[in-house]
Amino acid sequence: MNWNQLFARKNLDDLLHEMKGEQRLKRALGPINLTSLGVGAVIGAGIFVATGAAAREVAGPALMMSYVVAGLTCIFAALCYAEFASMAPVAGSAYTYAYITMGELFAWIIGWDLILEYAVGAATVANGWSGYFQTVLAKTGLHVPSFCNKATVIYENGHFVLTGSLFNLPAVIIVAIMTAVLVKGISESAGFNALMVFIKVFAVIFVILVGSFYIHPENWTPFAPFGWTGLNVFGHHIAGETNADGNPVGMLAGAAIIFFAYIGFDSVSTHAEEAKNPQRDVPIAIMASLLICTVLYVAVVAVLTGMVKYDQIDKDAGVSSAFKHAGLPWAEVIIAGAGVAGITSVLLVMMLSAPRVFLAMARDGLVPKSFFADIHPKYQTPWKSTIGIGIFVAFLAGFLPIDALLHLTNIGTLFAFVIVCGAVLIMRYTHPEAVRPFRCPLVPVVPILGIASCLMLMFSLPAANWWRLIAWMGIGLVIYFCYGQRHSVMRKVTANDVT
Ligand code: ALA
Repeated sequence: MNWNQLFARKNLDDLLHEMKGEQRLKRALGPINLTSLGVGAVIGAGIFVATGAAAREVAGPALMMSYVVAGLTCIFAALCYAEFASMAPVAGSAYTYAYITMGELFAWIIGWDLILEYAVGAATVANGWSGYFQTVLAKTGLHVPSFCNKATVIYENGHFVLTGSLFNLPAVIIVAIMTAVLVKGISESAGFNALMVFIKVFAVIFVILVGSFYIHPENWTPFAPFGWTGLNVFGHHIAGETNADGNPVGMLAGAAIIFFAYIGFDSVSTHAEEAKNPQRDVPIAIMASLLICTVLYVAVVAVLTGMVKYDQIDKDAGVSSAFKHAGLPWAEVIIAGAGVAGITSVLLVMMLSAPRVFLAMARDGLVPKSFFADIHPKYQTPWKSTIGIGIFVAFLAGFLPIDALLHLTNIGTLFAFVIVCGAVLIMRYTHPEAVRPFRCPLVPVVPILGIASCLMLMFSLPAANWWRLIAWMGIGLVIYFCYGQRHSVMRKVTANDVT
């Protein structure tokens, strides 16, 4: 084993040089496209689906504050992401940043973690899409047969329990359609995404404007019925209350769950290689999409918890059902329909991002190039890996329950953010001279706050997720030592250094 290789860092200049080489992706995206991709990746199942259950069972009206806490956490991480994205505007995002700052082993860990974020996240969204789609379908009197209308298992009282359904057919179908769209190409995908983004932003603003006439301020009392905290460390309860399953509840625990609603802004940086002017546009797009979404989310939760008493909010489609509750069934149909469109665009962006992380890893030799770096000659997309990811996502979405997938996505993403914030700190000391078109303000305060707030949210999730994250990482390390480490481009470089 060549230990030097594990901590060998990729050189920033080499990386920028590589970018001038062959087989790059088309530079087709401007700032509006990028912000639209950001908003497209962010507003989705989190606000339309997860918010209802989180308000009802975990945080009450204080979920408004949960969104502020989760949004602030993301802003700290986003400032760090933006610094890196402007320095190294290539596909791969946090994976590439870690390779430059902390070496190959950390790069592998983060790359593998990003696959978790995007692929398991896409499965979560596909699952949420299926639920909302079936709500809309039911309005027309049609129903998906019960043997294929939901995941095979659900997670209850610490156990997986069979649901009686063989698999989630609508989730599998939507994943297959998205895979086909993505193989065809980025420009078409971005155009389709722009339309979806327009529809869902319209839906969210509609909810806020129309819903504000139906608010009953007394519904906001008590404001924090489950308390303000909710922390546990590996299953040991530290602060706040727990529910019947022993999982934390309270405002912080709510933030850890609805954190999912913010996931995706970082995917803008994975498209840096396809941006026309990445140094300027990627940081702008990351911050713009995050700020837009935070304001909209807090307003939606204020309206939702003001319209319906928190303990009567519909668990599965809280936002649209609130309008039915208020005697506006037509509004319910508009919102549910737009919700389906909105969730579709999130799925698209998540499934677009995972193959690009693999592409960056394949270029470094850590995963097989012939599969993961094969760019389609006509469509210029990493088509084989897009199809491979599609099959994996369809499998997860078809069989596993939404809550377990959502929690796992959250913990994986928070972990990625911790590494990105840490990498910004390290890079400021190891490469002070590097050109940083965008500089994260107030270093080291912002990265440290980013690390602390992400860890806090990780400890507010049910403890089982730590073990799942560790298991995923364990599988990743086995692959790294069996394949990645042996085929790495860096192996040759460090071997030459040693001789
Ligand atoms: N933020 C995305 C959503 O809420 C993942 O669906």
